[in-house]
Amino acid sequence: MRYAIISDIHSNLEALEVVLREIDRIGADRIVSLGDVVGYNANPNECVRLLRDRDISSLMGNHDAAACGLEEPTDFNPIARDALLWTRQTLEPEHRDRLKGLPEQMILTDGLRLAHGSLLYRDHYLSSHDDIMENIRLMRAADPEIRVLFFGHTHIQVAIACHEEDLTVISSTAPARFSLRPDNLYLINPGSVGQPRDRDPRCAFLLYDEETATVEFIRLPYDIRTCSEKILSSGLPGRLADRLHTGC
Ligand SMILES: [Fe+2]
Repeated sequence: MRYAIISDIHSNLEALEVVLREIDRIGADRIVSLGDVVGYNANPNECVRLLRDRDISSLMGNHDAAACGLEEPTDFNPIARDALLWTRQTLEPEHRDRLKGLPEQMILTDGLRLAHGSLLYRDHYLSSHDDIMENIRLMRAADPEIRVLFFGHTHIQVAIACHEEDLTVISSTAPARFSLRPDNLYLINPGSVGQPRDRDPRCAFLLYDEETATVEFIRLPYDIRTCSEKILSSGLPGRLADRLHTGC
């Protein structure tokens, strides 16, 4: 099986369409999303509909939970909160209900787990050494053991390997292709489709080939101008348009 793993689409239709076109060109048996389908950008309905039409499974991200009304956006910064309130008003009932039904975590296949933030909780920024090691302990304690955790939320494309107690960043740039070793555990973030934050404004995703245990990080340019013009014309905060151009 060949999986395409996408995350943090954030209502960015221009980026999502480019990513799906490239996945179709390359060929993947299954596409899965790690959550935050909506929030920040201007096309929440179109993005939810496109995932539905393409039969793409998604986890629930913290923005999805707040946008569909399962949670109040009390822990969000003012710009994210403004965008969430706009998204709530804009979401059609059918799409709001669809977000409400998204799962917290998913098992992709034996030993491969998907989470939005981390194994601990949905809006957990998994970046510090201690938090990574805590997740590694949970991966080892799971039955069966989790070999790879694919996670999103930070909007940063990165792969970390753990051998015994040592952590190594394998790659944080694309293009990059690397094979997973059977004696390591991995935490891998595909980056963000709709709002990258690693100073590379191109949309990000990854491919995982189960047969060869190989991961490939991919970045693609998309029509940032159109996406940012929609943000401005819809009344969303202007900062959300600016950050798309810088990728931070
Ligand atoms: Fe996000």
